[in-house]
Amino acid sequence: MCKGVLDFTIVRLGECRFPSPLAGVRFTRDDERVLYHARLEDIKEWIAGGADPPAMEAAGPREKLFFDSSQLACGIVTCGGLCPGLNDVIRSIVLSLYHHYGVKKVYGFRFGYEGLVRRWGHKPLQLTPDSVGRIHETGGSILGSSRGPQDPAEMVATLRELKISMLFTIGGDGTLRGAQKISKEAARQGMSLSVIGIPKTIDNDVSFVQKTFGFETAVAEARRAIYAANTEAEAAHNGIGLVKLMGRDSGFIAAFSVLVDSQANFCLIPEVPFTLERLLTELKVRIERRAHAVIVVAEGAGQELLEKTAERDASGNVRYGDIGTFLREAIKEYFQRAGMEISIKYIDPSYTIRSVPANPHDSAFCLLLGHNAVHAGMSGRTDMVVGFWNHQFTHVPMSLAASERKKIDPAGVLWNSVLASTGQPWDMR
Ligand code: F6P
Repeated sequence: MCKGVLDFTIVRLGECRFPSPLAGVRFTRDDERVLYHARLEDIKEWIAGGADPPAMEAAGPREKLFFDSSQLACGIVTCGGLCPGLNDVIRSIVLSLYHHYGVKKVYGFRFGYEGLVRRWGHKPLQLTPDSVGRIHETGGSILGSSRGPQDPAEMVATLRELKISMLFTIGGDGTLRGAQKISKEAARQGMSLSVIGIPKTIDNDVSFVQKTFGFETAVAEARRAIYAANTEAEAAHNGIGLVKLMGRDSGFIAAFSVLVDSQANFCLIPEVPFTLERLLTELKVRIERRAHAVIVVAEGAGQELLEKTAERDASGNVRYGDIGTFLREAIKEYFQRAGMEISIKYIDPSYTIRSVPANPHDSAFCLLLGHNAVHAGMSGRTDMVVGFWNHQFTHVPMSLAASERKKIDPAGVLWNSVLASTGQPWDMR
């Protein structure tokens, strides 16, 4: 992913003058860095030249704070599609603000960026440790969500009215671009506003972030669908199980779900093109040999096989055709023409996967993300997201995180392991 010079500089609002109320913790120094490259051979060039290799700021509590917590009001907003763990992150931010720093005013804006615009009429919630205590036990977002941008000037007007100095935006690349606009508008108006993002994408496609919250839960849920597809397929003569999973432009959920217990025989992802003819031929070979097969397809795979549409969703994403039902019909037709009786079962668990509560590991991960987001905001950092890289929590400039979508490398080891697990040909064009 490293292209040219990477600028990991994090913007700060100003000098930190207030002592942190945290006790008994090793504070993170401002010069602590997490290497971008994890392999020695990748950083030798910098070492030889006497320069520091590219590295991200380490997340964590700072000894000196920019904000006086006794005077602070904060806001939280969740945008875009649902993702397991949204409530965990909200809860973690509220608990950290109250318990780590003694902040008593936390507003939860309703229905994404709409909640920051007065004329939509969504009244913000007052969030307290009591009101968020058990929200992590349920899926969805207690704040609600929506897609699409809103006018930065109107959003900043609301923040100003509520005297909010720190805004936490939980969302994907569109949300981060919106957050950057809020930050820019606030700066233009001379407001000291810290805007901290917590990257949210069930597709795990945010750049410079190794793993986003909810992804692990999504894979665990997807695995249940693949298990069902395989059980159905094995129980019928010439049984075929077809599972469609989310993944607009990046097939991480499909790829990892396939690796869980190697029940899938074909994994189709947006990053790797295939032709219908080749897929169907290979499927026939598999059915003739084993009398059952499982196909896992990410929603963004094979879009070139479908009719193009100019339609976009409110986030500006092109609306994709339904590759799942397309493949189901194509498979039925093909085997009918070939005179072979098959039994195909189609499973689309997309929204089931997205709406479940986070699993325990994801919950703990969300809690740590929320804490680190609060530490970053209290130290006056802004225009950044809390990331996870080389197994460390980091600060990533929003501009980098929103720059492009992270994708699976078709020549990389992850995809190679998927191919080894499914047994499908590496090239299905
Ligand atoms: O957030 C990304 C995503 O999960 C995509 O994989 C999918 O295309 C999209 O959300 C679907 O969400 P909605 O139905 O809310 O537009």
